[in-house]
Amino acid sequence: MAGRLEGKVAVIVGAARGIGAGIAERFVEEGAKIVIGDTEVEAGRATAARLGAGFVTTDITRQEHATWIVTEALSRHGRLDIAIQNAGIYPWRMIETTPPEEWDKVMAVNLKGTFLLAQAALKPMKAQRSGRMIFTSSITGPRVSSPGHGHYSASKGGINGFIKAASVEFAAYNITVNGVEPGNIMTEGVREHRSEAFIQSMADMIPLGRLGTPRDVANAFLFLASDDADYITGTTIIVDGGQTVPEGADFKVVPD
Ligand SMILES: NC(=O)c1ccc[n+]([C@@H]2O[C@H](COP(=O)([O-])OP(=O)(O)OC[C@H]3O[C@@H](n4cnc5c(N)ncnc54)[C@H](O)[C@@H]3O)[C@@H](O)[C@H]2O)c1
Repeated sequence: MAGRLEGKVAVIVGAARGIGAGIAERFVEEGAKIVIGDTEVEAGRATAARLGAGFVTTDITRQEHATWIVTEALSRHGRLDIAIQNAGIYPWRMIETTPPEEWDKVMAVNLKGTFLLAQAALKPMKAQRSGRMIFTSSITGPRVSSPGHGHYSASKGGINGFIKAASVEFAAYNITVNGVEPGNIMTEGVREHRSEAFIQSMADMIPLGRLGTPRDVANAFLFLASDDADYITGTTIIVDGGQTVPEGADFKVVPD
């Protein structure tokens, strides 16, 4: 049976590890040709080699890097069907003590990076009169938040606003723009930046009883990139095991 992305070409930024690597793996399984970009050269090359993908050193805060990865996909594969901006950073810092430089850095990677990749991918997608842009948002910001997530929440809320604006601007060219809002997903980044106590407190809040995996998130990207999502634009899919649903802490049902 043909894969769901057979014949499609995708760029995925922030795919050396974590959720991005999960998306890359899932897309290759479904027949896509992919080029991944990341600031982490060694890990990025290793992931690309494992998947038979292309790799371009990409700092998505820089406009010329956003152009490079799109150009690389076009020169390798002759077209660009799917553009994914997944690179994101999530330093933990209370608003009271956040240095403006750290605020700017979070905005530059998470939010400006999304705008820069969209702008770079627009040109070939416009010419093709088709394309899919899919961005990694978060439940943190658009739905919920907790102390220490001021800049991060603002950046992810901004991505959801950008998705709406871009979906309206690009619809005339048959380009859809959507996002995925992961809940708490166990990745290298979470292990590095969040305490065991925080991770456990999150797991306790999830009706499905576990943190998510990169593959759980990748499956939502796959749907939005596939022909099944032809008529979906300007929206996001929450992938959080139900975490944002309970009205209060007393939500656990003991199974019969
Ligand atoms: N893990 C979670 O629980 C969770 C929840 C909600 C949203 N997210 C979002 O999912 C995305 C991936 O998260 P993750 O947990 O897999 O993180 P991660 O830290 O494990 O991986 C992120 C990748 O992005 C790369 N990156 C960082 N800055 C970059 C830049 N300037 N240019 C290009 N690449 C860059 C990193 O090198 C890394 O390979 C992020 O946008 C994050 O905000 C994660």
